[in-house]
Amino acid sequence: MLGSIRARADRPRTYCVVTYGCQMNEHDSETLSGMLGDMGMEKAKSRETADFVIFNTCCIRENAERRALGNVTWLKELKKDRPELMVGVCGCMMQQPGMAEKILRQYPFVDIAFGTHNLYRFPELMENALRTRRRVVEVLQDDEGHIPEELPVRRESRTHAYITIMYGCNNFCSYCIVPYVRGRERSRDAAAILAEARGLKADGVKEIMLLGQNVNSYGNDIEGGMTFPQLLSALDEIGVERIRFMTSHPKDLSDELIEVMASSRHICHALHLPVQAGSDRVLASMNRRYTRERYLERVRQLRKRIPDIALTTDLIVAYPGETEEEFEETCSLVREVGYDAAFTFIYSPRTGTRAAQMEGRIDEETAARRIQKLIAIQKESTKKRMEAMIGSTHSVLVDGASKRDETKLAGKDEYGITVNFPGDRSLIGEIVRVRILSAGESTLRGEIAERQ
Ligand code: 5AD
Ligand code: SF4
Repeated sequence: MLGSIRARADRPRTYCVVTYGCQMNEHDSETLSGMLGDMGMEKAKSRETADFVIFNTCCIRENAERRALGNVTWLKELKKDRPELMVGVCGCMMQQPGMAEKILRQYPFVDIAFGTHNLYRFPELMENALRTRRRVVEVLQDDEGHIPEELPVRRESRTHAYITIMYGCNNFCSYCIVPYVRGRERSRDAAAILAEARGLKADGVKEIMLLGQNVNSYGNDIEGGMTFPQLLSALDEIGVERIRFMTSHPKDLSDELIEVMASSRHICHALHLPVQAGSDRVLASMNRRYTRERYLERVRQLRKRIPDIALTTDLIVAYPGETEEEFEETCSLVREVGYDAAFTFIYSPRTGTRAAQMEGRIDEETAARRIQKLIAIQKESTKKRMEAMIGSTHSVLVDGASKRDETKLAGKDEYGITVNFPGDRSLIGEIVRVRILSAGESTLRGEIAERQ
């Protein structure tokens, strides 16, 4: 299939993959790039000059969707000047009911569209589009548990790599569209994951990020398979320098997982543990299946066993019916936990979810005021946490030159915080010990302490 595309004189020569949304999408885009490379295409220098532009979309909130569609429309103009330009749309947005029809009707300049369940069929769809010179739209409602292995991947980084350990989500949080567009939980075979990690280590990768909507329920769908803590232990043995994972659902955060994190050699002491809200009524309505107290108890246990753990979270304000008191409970929880960082969102109704049918929509002004207040609280907390790090020494995996200052290097420490420091470019890709000298709003500055 790929060979036959390569052989076609009329195939596009260069491509550009535009990604929206989460790490899962970023990783899917690396797979798209891998497939495009196998079709004989090169990455274009810019979106404007590419022969094939594909948008890997997100629909978690309305603005993510609006942005993606806005950019697709922008290409319409480009296509007027360059009729040979091919346009693709894929990803979560395509999985929504009615979206395939909408693309067919309102976006006639889109040549190829598919969803999340048939990403692996992209080469075939491309071949069809080229052969028939017609538009190809294929969206499957589910994939019947099919997990494609051995797809080509073109990684964006030589030192970091994503490994998907499970697909889909079974949790049906009331506000969330993910279970509808990504389907049910399907865990990848542990042997395939471990083989991938070994391959990455052999390639010189220093950090792997394990991906899943709820990694803590890894293996629940495989009889006699490994649990997530067991998988983590096995990965730790392989010896990739750093292991991270996301996302953990607080309801499934077991003591066993905390113990594995505490005793492992390579698992970073950083955990993204989305709490969403601080009021028990809101949490129950969101179908999160933990209480404020249970969440706080998990945080206490984490901090007891892993005192230096960096905690980050996701928060939603203006969920339907959220009262001022309930919002204040989110504020007090955020103060109480003292997160290292938080992603704050205004609730966005998503068609087909339970919350979208609920009464008590919060007006925009109130929502804006609430999110501003929450951001300010978190900013204080981030500042405190980062200032407490001054004087300590962190391990920094050097990514490249600092964005702001070319003479400096930048990388992430074991807690996931960006650290800038003076150093030679030969250190790019290495892990360096850096003494922290000062803290900015969201980054740290330091100087090299010693080579590891
Ligand atoms: N509105 C606002 N935020 C949402 N999230 C998920 N769905 C919605 C929605 N409908 C947020 C949650 C989740 C993060 C990935 O996005 O906080 O943890
Ligand atoms: Fe969405 Fe909840 Fe699943 Fe996360 S756990 S993807 S918030 S339904």
